[in-house]
Amino acid sequence: MNKKVFEPTVLGSINLKNRIIRSATHEGMADEAGYPTEMLKNTYIQLAKGTVGAIITGYAGIQQNGRSPLYRMNMISDDSYIDHYKDLVDTIHEYDTPIIMQIVHCGRQTRSIITGERPVAPSAIRDKCYNEEIPKELTELEIEEIINNFVNAIERAKKAGFDGVQLHAAHGYLLSSFLSPYMNHRKDRWGGTTENRFRIIDEIYKNARKRVGNYPILVKMNAYDGRKNGMRIKEAIKIAKLLEKSGCSAIEVSCGIWEDGFYSVRVKTVPIDLIMKYSFNYKKFATLPFFLKSIIKLKLKMHITKHKPLHNYNVEAAAVIKREVSIPVIVVGGIRAIGDISNIIENGKADFVSMCRPFISEPDIVKKFEDDRQKVSKCISCCNCAILLEENPIRCCYS
Ligand SMILES: Cc1cc2nc3c(=O)[nH]c(=O)nc-3n(C[C@H](O)[C@H](O)[C@H](O)COP(=O)(O)O)c2cc1C
Repeated sequence: MNKKVFEPTVLGSINLKNRIIRSATHEGMADEAGYPTEMLKNTYIQLAKGTVGAIITGYAGIQQNGRSPLYRMNMISDDSYIDHYKDLVDTIHEYDTPIIMQIVHCGRQTRSIITGERPVAPSAIRDKCYNEEIPKELTELEIEEIINNFVNAIERAKKAGFDGVQLHAAHGYLLSSFLSPYMNHRKDRWGGTTENRFRIIDEIYKNARKRVGNYPILVKMNAYDGRKNGMRIKEAIKIAKLLEKSGCSAIEVSCGIWEDGFYSVRVKTVPIDLIMKYSFNYKKFATLPFFLKSIIKLKLKMHITKHKPLHNYNVEAAAVIKREVSIPVIVVGGIRAIGDISNIIENGKADFVSMCRPFISEPDIVKKFEDDRQKVSKCISCCNCAILLEENPIRCCYS
């Protein structure tokens, strides 16, 4: 039953040992300027030793005002980064493991205290999560600059030896916010119709193809979110088709934006205490008297709801998208059991599966599955890893 999962295969022109991919996971292991460290390299070595099919790096910033609010993001914003990543990539290749760099502009899901300037977005719509400041609507010139910086980052990733790049167009970050009618209210050629909202990605592809030829450029996108007038599967299918037309090498299907709470990253129980302690929006209340803190906690509990199901929640959306395109489809989201992975692959619901949190506690989970030492990941989807990431490199609280 697991045969197809563990057979060597190809994702476009990339050779993989199997069909299980490490989905992009912000590691918080860069140095202050965003250069890769030995710690980051060791994390990837552990994954490669664990025979993961391919590693997608934590998101790397293409420019300063698109930096992540989380701890110590990887950057790829100028040529000085190339040699540093080259060393890391060469090491991972010694294990015969492909490594793909995910690149991002965080858009309105960041803070000026991190980037040094007001966050930017397609439209000036306040983010309910990053609600301290209303983002600035991007000018035409600034959009062109962002396109150029994405293309520069793709070229740098290629020069560094990465096997491909992935554009982060999911979870409410800048490219995702252009795609979503909820976040993009523009009346010019960058907003309105699906084609207009997609234009920024199309332009990245057009310009990148001139510079990097058929180098693999993947996309992570949302199939849906929890917002009124947000992304829905019908729209996502249209976008997937546009992606295929633009020359996208593979689509990873995800869901949700930050405002949705734990939607893309589903949890068994909302980690309220940890949020109160570490999250920038709440840690400021630490010194309040117990009674007042309890009221805030209660409000938080009411505000952040749990979403269901907890497992395999993007599989049906991925299957629908896969039926409509002929490029490879990867599915992520609550995948924990080799039995489920086999079903997804054998039944053609997706060509690849990817996981994030399971690899944090068990970087060798793929090997354990393959050797039949374990059938289900030990990850309990508590998501403490993500909350701690505001101030620390990534780790699992339970391993
Ligand atoms: C700690 C943490 C960091 C993440 N970092 C990224 C990231 O850099 N880029 C990205 O596209 N998704 C990121 N995600 C989302 C995951 O890639 C994935 O879509 C989501 O966690 C669902 O998969 P899982 O259930 O296997 O964890 C992150 C999630 C977590 C929990």
